[in-house]
Amino acid sequence: MVKKLPKGFLWGGATADFQYEGGFCEGGRGPSTHDYETNGSQEHPRHLTMKMPDGTIINPKSSFAIAEDVPLTAKPILLPDQYYPSHKAVDFYHHYKEDIKLMADLGFKVYRFSISWSRIYPTGEEKEPNEEGLKFYDHVLDELEKYHIQPLITICHDELPINLAVKYDGFNSRKVISFYVQYAKTLFEHFGKRVKYWLTFNEINAIRGFSSTGVHKANGLNRYQAAHNMFIASALAIKLGHKMMPNSQFGAMFALSTCYPKTCKPEDVLATQEELRENWYFVDTMGRGYYPKFADEILQHHGIKGLSALKIEPEDNNILYEGQLDYVAFSYYRSSTFKAGDEWFNVGGDDNPYLEKTPWGWNIDSLGLRYTMNMVYDRIQKPLFIVENGVGSIDHPDDNDYVEDNYRIKYLNQLLSAMRDAINIDKVPCIGYTMWAPIDLVSLSTGEMKKRYGFIYVDMDDLGHGTLKRTPKKSYKWIKHIIETNGEAL
Ligand code: BG6
Repeated sequence: MVKKLPKGFLWGGATADFQYEGGFCEGGRGPSTHDYETNGSQEHPRHLTMKMPDGTIINPKSSFAIAEDVPLTAKPILLPDQYYPSHKAVDFYHHYKEDIKLMADLGFKVYRFSISWSRIYPTGEEKEPNEEGLKFYDHVLDELEKYHIQPLITICHDELPINLAVKYDGFNSRKVISFYVQYAKTLFEHFGKRVKYWLTFNEINAIRGFSSTGVHKANGLNRYQAAHNMFIASALAIKLGHKMMPNSQFGAMFALSTCYPKTCKPEDVLATQEELRENWYFVDTMGRGYYPKFADEILQHHGIKGLSALKIEPEDNNILYEGQLDYVAFSYYRSSTFKAGDEWFNVGGDDNPYLEKTPWGWNIDSLGLRYTMNMVYDRIQKPLFIVENGVGSIDHPDDNDYVEDNYRIKYLNQLLSAMRDAINIDKVPCIGYTMWAPIDLVSLSTGEMKKRYGFIYVDMDDLGHGTLKRTPKKSYKWIKHIIETNGEAL
């Protein structure tokens, strides 16, 4: 068996600005939705801090994932006694040179990062972009070029300027599409010559609540309307991007936690097929450029009459078709199981007796990646890009902050071997793999630091205390060797 990955395979890592960058309100950056989210834990969900018109402060029962009921009249506020992890994150804003050097020493060929929309357009509505914001990312690109690392830019990673959320109800409003396209155009004009790979949205199929989409009342209709508007925003950006940058390659990113039938009972198998369509609704529409035949059934499941109940303009079908993805990007963290009668979900799901779990309850399933890669490629027939994967673990540093993370090495060894099999044996074309996240950063779901993914330890705790010192873990040396041998050493 061929053990090396194909020549030119892009090895790298991935981060998101509000979990990694910090620099809140520095360099002219405006506030973004995640800036109003407190820290949390597995037991205590993160909350948005909002002020009601009568003056009461509410922590709506809204974590980033739920956000079902943020009243339209509520105003986000920052409370002095709360810790908001995005404000500092792990301060890439001031550590980018050091961090990119560490990535370069690992042998990274690609680095996926998101641009903070509110650093470029502080309220989302300005006529001109914030030059200082553009300059920051110019410096980041300069560093990457110095080490021959390709950028992979996520235009919108689960956030937007808070103003667009508050004023327009986020992506529930068609108006926000034009602000997104203006923002994307600015990025293409400014960075287009230096960037080939783009992602329009992160985990778009998760259609999370307020923090990610700006939608206040995240009921079925609003969420699927937001998704439609995001499809159109993405397709318009892709059309424009292709015109402005003929060599550009566009993807959107899907959370593909695959799902197996709980038993071989035909009812469970059929129910799982239907459940999986919840995700195919997104992958098919963006990957093939039209809504799948089962779109109405998906919407009906969420209490919506069907596509006819969404605000879809006559030109939208053409836009979708002309703005198809060039490649399918996805995150893969876990798999789950499903049986007839279970509640549908986009991300998450049930246990599997054959699999171990992370301390956060995520099933550890390396073979599931090979299964997922085959399933997606068989379906869409476009190259894949695995742009997020990793295992969140509790690390125990010694006095010198060194972590002997054998569990991470074990996980990645199995996972990357499964990926290699999908590529070399099953012949699934795959552009690259960007591990989440090469340097420890803030968890999206819980806001914690203790859920660590990196090859590089960052000295910071859940409340932002620490020196921010970066220290390579045992897995750093290991992955460096895997990359050097282009996968042969797995
Ligand atoms: C994906 C997101 O859902 O999973 C990332 O794109 C996130 O932003 C990652 O960090 C891991 O999730 P968590 O909750 O462990 O940070």
